[in-house]
Amino acid sequence: MDNLAELREAARAVSEHAYAPYSGCRVGAAVLGASGRIFAGCNVENVSFGLTVCAERNAVSQAVAAGERELHALALYTPTDVPTPPCGACRQVLQEFGPEALVIAGCASGEERQFRLGELFPRPFARLPGS
Ligand code: THU
Repeated sequence: MDNLAELREAARAVSEHAYAPYSGCRVGAAVLGASGRIFAGCNVENVSFGLTVCAERNAVSQAVAAGERELHALALYTPTDVPTPPCGACRQVLQEFGPEALVIAGCASGEERQFRLGELFPRPFARLPGS
């Protein structure tokens, strides 16, 4: 994967569009599809807090809406001092389209950590009964 620098920058750039008036935590995410295309998303909060959608899930939705169903990597940008991996809900959603995805967690300090999704989410719910 030679476009990881672009992926990281897409995640950082889209965090500027985050709608986070309640937490103040402006998050950006970008996913790299099998076609080489990059899709970005930011967190969108809601006054009814439980309706907030994370940056990662919005990025995945953008990819799927464009016809991209095989994701190879996800970059996350948080405005924190230390890298923060995706929340549990986002791990389950990424599992659907990128079970072997590389997850790059970057943050404001410039520190970065890399994981494979399988390491972050080793026992996914992946089958419906009877299937
Ligand atoms: N958030 C994300 O966008 N991604 C995560 O993986 C964890 C949390 C957002 C949700 C909320 O708007 C804010 O960060 C604080 O939790």
